[in-house]
Amino acid sequence: MRSILFVDDESRVLEGLQRMLFPMQREWKMAFALSGAQALELLEKGHFDVVVSDMRMPGMDGAQLLEEVKKRCPDTLRFILSGQSESEVIYRTLGSAHQFLSKPCKPAFLKECVDKAFALRSILASDALKAVVAQIGTLPPVPQVYAKLCEALKSPDCTIEEVGQVIKMDPAMTAKILQVTNSAFFGLRRDVSTVPQAVSLIGLKNITALVLARGLFAPVEGGKLPPGFSIDSLWRHCMVVASYAQAICQVENTSKEIADDAYTGGLLHDTGQLVFLAGCPDDYVRCHEYAIEKQVTLPAAEGELLQCTHGEVGAYLLGIWGLPYPIVESVAYHHNPSIYLGSEFSPVTAVHVADILAFKRRSDESDSPHPGFDMPYLERLGLSNHIPEWDKACDAIDAQEGEKS
Ligand SMILES: [Fe+2]
Ligand SMILES: [Fe+2]
Repeated sequence: MRSILFVDDESRVLEGLQRMLFPMQREWKMAFALSGAQALELLEKGHFDVVVSDMRMPGMDGAQLLEEVKKRCPDTLRFILSGQSESEVIYRTLGSAHQFLSKPCKPAFLKECVDKAFALRSILASDALKAVVAQIGTLPPVPQVYAKLCEALKSPDCTIEEVGQVIKMDPAMTAKILQVTNSAFFGLRRDVSTVPQAVSLIGLKNITALVLARGLFAPVEGGKLPPGFSIDSLWRHCMVVASYAQAICQVENTSKEIADDAYTGGLLHDTGQLVFLAGCPDDYVRCHEYAIEKQVTLPAAEGELLQCTHGEVGAYLLGIWGLPYPIVESVAYHHNPSIYLGSEFSPVTAVHVADILAFKRRSDESDSPHPGFDMPYLERLGLSNHIPEWDKACDAIDAQEGEKS
């Protein structure tokens, strides 16, 4: 039985939750705390699988509580259930919350989120993955600028100028961010010359994602690469997948949160390839050769030779760094969303489809077969007939890019 601790300073809210979640009693052992301090007392006395906390509370707020929970019980899943808009909350809990839920939250949805989080966790804790990580030895460190940015964003009154200052400390990063912001992918009609300008035009969430993604690419530049492979083209591929994923979300009329997560997921979906390239370049070159020789897809070759795929390894790393689960999921399942428990369109759907559409457009560049759509998954969601429309939205991005370059 799973044990879940709910924390909210308003007793009315807790009573409401208790009533609403009464039917879950058979599956969940539930406890309720009226403050962060009380929650920590309960955590001293017993183990909880999940902590679901309100954000705004007097004394210790949700961000501080989850930070503490992370230190004391790193295995506990940490959710924020907040009435505030997500963007206010997300930066303060970056690295400490696994998932953001907005009030009111239906029991069935909460149950789905908890189940999905456990499913992801079991993939990330699999023996095969642990063995590969052990073999790699050291995982890439958190990119420095990204870590500093997260630190600055933890303060509730961090300004756009301060964000600009942090990024400016790394001139190569600044140049890259401005280059990307000025590329056709964002379709901005004006030239962007400073980071604060970039932040206000494409949003803090996208900038944070770009800083993280770029920071991940930097250490592998100049290292050993499989024949015909270039870091530049992988970076380009990730940018394309990110903007396709966002465009697909627009077709589906999703919330901005889903579209932003899909964008970040797209940028980071092939992080695992960078982990392999940095950690075991010889084995990774062999995977590429094997895929060509045997005419299998790259993830299939990785599975055979390394016992896990770049999707899983990338998700593992981003999970350790505390990225929100919807993003980690979109990385973990980008080749095989069938095994994902979600039943609706999500960043997982957008990133999977975007990756396949990006592959289809450059099929001539690769000597190994590219993965295809996971049709059982798209059929389960009732979305398989949306493919032509998604394809058209991606064509529109390609056309924009053609015009600008
Ligand atoms: Fe991939
Ligand atoms: Fe990809």
